[in-house]
Amino acid sequence: MQVVKYVFQPHGDDRGQLVALEEFKDIPFRIKRVYYMYDTGKGVTRGYHAHKSLEQILICIHGSCKIMLDNGSEKKVIPLEKPYEGLYVSHLMWREMFDFSPDAVLMVLASELYDESDYIRDYDVFLKHVQECAEQNAASEV
Ligand code: TYD
Repeated sequence: MQVVKYVFQPHGDDRGQLVALEEFKDIPFRIKRVYYMYDTGKGVTRGYHAHKSLEQILICIHGSCKIMLDNGSEKKVIPLEKPYEGLYVSHLMWREMFDFSPDAVLMVLASELYDESDYIRDYDVFLKHVQECAEQNAASEV
């Protein structure tokens, strides 16, 4: 499983750092929504879902956390601890976010507006979607 982590260009000077993100330039999709999590309780794990079509970039703009990505056959844990790093999360990728430092702010850039019908919240249903998708791809290659 390939993990795509973007390293953004900080514009630093003697006043400090600034990171600017533009759609289709720094971010590979149109940014339709931004949300962020903070004050996450000790020991809390969030996420436990995948999306049918949504693409996202996760940036821990303060503090640190870990992201577990699972494509249905492989799992990887990616630490996020730099405000200039962004983790790309494609559709059909199960994600769990955990190990938040008390000061963590996890910001998410999303390619679509909030749509509950795009969520897959059941792990077995997620595995079924992944399998169906693989079968469709195999059929279209014949
Ligand atoms: P939830 O999906 O439970 O967060 P996660 O699975 O990422 O830990 O979202 C928490 C609440 O926030 C839930 O009531 C839905 C709401 N919400 C929105 O209204 N808009 C959004 O863009 C998101 C991501 C969540």
